[in-house]
Amino acid sequence: MLIVNSPVVETIQVHENIFIQKIHSPEIARTVKPGQFLNIRVSENYFPLLRRPFSICDVEDENIFIMLNVTGEGTKIIVHKHPGEMLDILGPLGNGFNLQGDYKNAIIVAGGLGSAPFPFVTKKLRNDKNIFSFVGGRTKNDVITYGLDNVLTSTDDGALGFNGTVIQLLENNIYKFDSTTSKVFGCGPTPMLRALKEICIKYKLDCEVSTESAMACGFGICQGCPIESTAQKDKYLLICKDGPVFNVKDVVL
Ligand SMILES: Cc1cc2nc3c(=O)[nH]c(=O)nc-3n(C[C@H](O)[C@H](O)[C@H](O)COP(=O)(O)OP(=O)(O)OC[C@H]3O[C@@H](n4cnc5c(N)ncnc54)[C@H](O)[C@@H]3O)c2cc1C
Ligand code: FES
Repeated sequence: MLIVNSPVVETIQVHENIFIQKIHSPEIARTVKPGQFLNIRVSENYFPLLRRPFSICDVEDENIFIMLNVTGEGTKIIVHKHPGEMLDILGPLGNGFNLQGDYKNAIIVAGGLGSAPFPFVTKKLRNDKNIFSFVGGRTKNDVITYGLDNVLTSTDDGALGFNGTVIQLLENNIYKFDSTTSKVFGCGPTPMLRALKEICIKYKLDCEVSTESAMACGFGICQGCPIESTAQKDKYLLICKDGPVFNVKDVVL
């Protein structure tokens, strides 16, 4: 884990309210794995006080990329950083997706901003696996397909792609995948991950998900990001340190 000061290279808008920020950070680019995250200091003042966590979205040479959904003061400040302005970044944090293994099909399932870690996952898997991406949102503006391959989309209101949830879309296509040769990677809101877990258990598919919670420290000190473990009742893991990626069998969603 490093603390680095890294300059913003550029920030481009790729979707309604979604921006990709390129940051020159050779130290982090060298070591970060798909599924890990960064905790970024927002301001040199006391407000906003806490760092804000962001998934690593992609890596290219000495540059790292984050996907920003501008929801509040912190993301607003970061997205408005000009080229050359510095970001104080803590990372890489957490574990990442386990992309190793002799499965043939990588099934990516993303809901809303849950697409953020998958451009980097896609880049790492593209040459070795068949990738199938299922990307959903409540409506058209929530469906983010940036950096993804072989995409099927869904919206809850039917404005784009399949009319229904991304999990229903996945189940409609599940006959295409043999459980012994496929692995699922998911990220999105907790109810979506819960439904994904059910489907994966039903069809005996190995599945890892990237989870989320409010965070403060980002590395296991403040105990502010618990998630219940399935191993033992009332045993909790920490999303920032033990996750954010878990096998669905290991956590209560
Ligand atoms: C491991 C991890 C990875 C993340 N990756 C990304 C990413 O790649 N891109 C991105 O844009 N955001 C990501 N987030 C969420 C991001 O950290 C929050 O959106 C951000 O902290 C909001 O800061 P803010 O000051 O702009 O908004 P705030 O003023 O802090 O909050 C604005 C609104 O967003 C809600 N919010 C804040 N944090 C979260 C959260 N963790 N989950 C859901 N809602 C939240 C608040 O409840 C509030 O309604 C991630 C969070 C975690 C824990
Ligand atoms: S954010 Fe502090 S322990 Fe997880």
